[in-house]
Amino acid sequence: MNDSDKRLAALAAIAEVRAGMIVGLGTGSTAAFAIAALGEQVRAGLQIKAVATSLATEASAREAGIQLIEMPARIDLTIDGADEIDSALNAIKGAGGAMLREKVVAAASDRMLVIADGSKRVGAIGAAKIPVEVLPFAHAFVADRLAALGGAPVLRAGFTSDQGNPILDCRFPADIDHAALAAAIDAIPGALGHGLFLAEVDAAYIATDGVVTRLER
Ligand code: A5P
Repeated sequence: MNDSDKRLAALAAIAEVRAGMIVGLGTGSTAAFAIAALGEQVRAGLQIKAVATSLATEASAREAGIQLIEMPARIDLTIDGADEIDSALNAIKGAGGAMLREKVVAAASDRMLVIADGSKRVGAIGAAKIPVEVLPFAHAFVADRLAALGGAPVLRAGFTSDQGNPILDCRFPADIDHAALAAAIDAIPGALGHGLFLAEVDAAYIATDGVVTRLER
């Protein structure tokens, strides 16, 4: 992981922000660079409204002077990090536990950008843990279903999401069909969200050793 590359990727992505936009703000250490840089532009006069994908991002955005609004029906542009991203713009997210709101914000966005340092770029997603947020009442049931899918779920210890829900971190076989897996998890009652982002990402800015590469769907 490389902070200067994370910052470079963030700066490249925020160049897509235009005055008047509603911007989705992601969660994590890479998104934090985008929030800080957007804050500078706001203080210099840029007028935007933003939606935060987590309580931590809400606090950072507020500190940066960015105007926050409640989740609307439609967002212009979202900028968020990822734990893994491949050339087809499939991503795994949720190491920070914010993937449920991140998925809602991404789905509502006309355009979603992933920003990352080169360590997140993979040939094909699947090595990272896939987190699943669970309704507390349904925890044992959902864990059993995820185990049946091959996910070897492990409760994230000492952690609840911003919604107050537990997270089960899963390790599925790397060569699993991720589209079928996402559909299967979506179909488990009590599974509220997961970290597979297979259709949401429109473009990615990935910085490696000071060079930013843009991948476009
Ligand atoms: C938050 O739940 C995640 O989806 C993050 O976006 C992801 O883990 C990337 O975070 P970093 O930028 O800190 O690696």
